[in-house]
Amino acid sequence: MSDLIALLPGDGIGPEVILQARRVLELYRDQRRIDIELWELDLGAERYLRDKTTFPKEIADRIAGEARAVLLGALGDPRVPTLDYARDILFGLRFGLDLYANIRPVKALDDRLVPLKGRTAKDVDFVVFRENTEGIYVNVGGQFKRGTADEIAINEDVNTRKGVERLIVAGFEYARAHGKKTVHLADKSNAMQHAHELWNRCFFEVAKRYPEIAARHVYIDALCLYLVQDPSPFEVVVTNNLFGDIVTDLGGGLQGGLGMAASASLHASDPKRVGLFEPVHGSAPPLAGKDVANPFAAILTVGLLLTHLGHPQEQTRIEDIVARGIREGACTRDVGGNLGTRAAGDWFLTALQRELGY
Ligand code: NAD
Ligand code: IPM
Ligand code: MN
Repeated sequence: MSDLIALLPGDGIGPEVILQARRVLELYRDQRRIDIELWELDLGAERYLRDKTTFPKEIADRIAGEARAVLLGALGDPRVPTLDYARDILFGLRFGLDLYANIRPVKALDDRLVPLKGRTAKDVDFVVFRENTEGIYVNVGGQFKRGTADEIAINEDVNTRKGVERLIVAGFEYARAHGKKTVHLADKSNAMQHAHELWNRCFFEVAKRYPEIAARHVYIDALCLYLVQDPSPFEVVVTNNLFGDIVTDLGGGLQGGLGMAASASLHASDPKRVGLFEPVHGSAPPLAGKDVANPFAAILTVGLLLTHLGHPQEQTRIEDIVARGIREGACTRDVGGNLGTRAAGDWFLTALQRELGY
């Protein structure tokens, strides 16, 4: 039976980059490399503005019950400044499907993409494991005395032993499976006493089960410094939801911009469960509709999706072709080329077709 892949192009540049990613999936499907069925979802700002739909239960249930993967572009539209609909969809997927490990590879595919003085692509190759179902993102809290001079707004940071431990285990398991020598915990235990003491304690307890891997601690603020000085010592970084979000935009910068950064959200202990695949970038409203957005982040995200479907060699193939595109200038302006979104997608597809022998 074919694997059901839900496509959620979303807002802004989302539909433009997901169209190119979709063509890649269709090529694999049409050449019978993979057996998939595509199901495109009409959700996002347009739909919300039309009929106030955010994330219907029937769709959530069908994804949970039948899909193998969701490929999402981005959500966020200035016409809906509260972004409530975007949180409904994004957190509906991440929390609703219990996709606790947001895996964000930070890998520079060409020396030209690395903005650091004296550093090359080989210095930028690590993976961030971002906790994806807890932390400050649960939106526990509230606004009190709203509109008065004594107003207070509280967002609680919720960290459970189970939630923290499973994410840390996912990071160590990945390190073991990929022959990595070090895992770093990035936290703020010097300031955030309760939550981060739990992270620290749990991290070093879990580390004992992986004696071949060095477990190191780094404060998140210092990590930001080290990453722009010399990212080469970092291989796997485990961290909480908010810090992981922030540090992976910084990571995007090390890779050549957000147009190059891919991500997967998984229930990591059970690879058979549905996964969510999204580029790290957002909807970039100023770029929308101009055919300038870089489709490579979305295409690299298809690579992660293909690994999830059991084809890791296709992830490597996709990365290699993207690297060649960068090297040869067959890419969009943000990464040094002069192609539009569609033309970069055309170039990629032609190269992939040739590689696959058609
Ligand atoms: P953004 O990621 O959209 O843009 C940040 C910067 O990166 C901008 O300079 C943009 O031009 C550039 N950029 C992003 N993607 C690019 C691409 N593919 N090619 C070339 N350049 C690219 O972040 P933002 O501007 O802070 O947010 C815009 C909206 O997107 C907001 O509503 C935000 O909440 C939302 N957002 C959504 C997601 C998601 O759905 N997963 C992720 C991040 C941001
Ligand atoms: C991301 C985004 C989201 C996040 C926003 C849009 C809620 O920045 O996917 O990186 O913070 O997780
Ligand atoms: Mn982000």
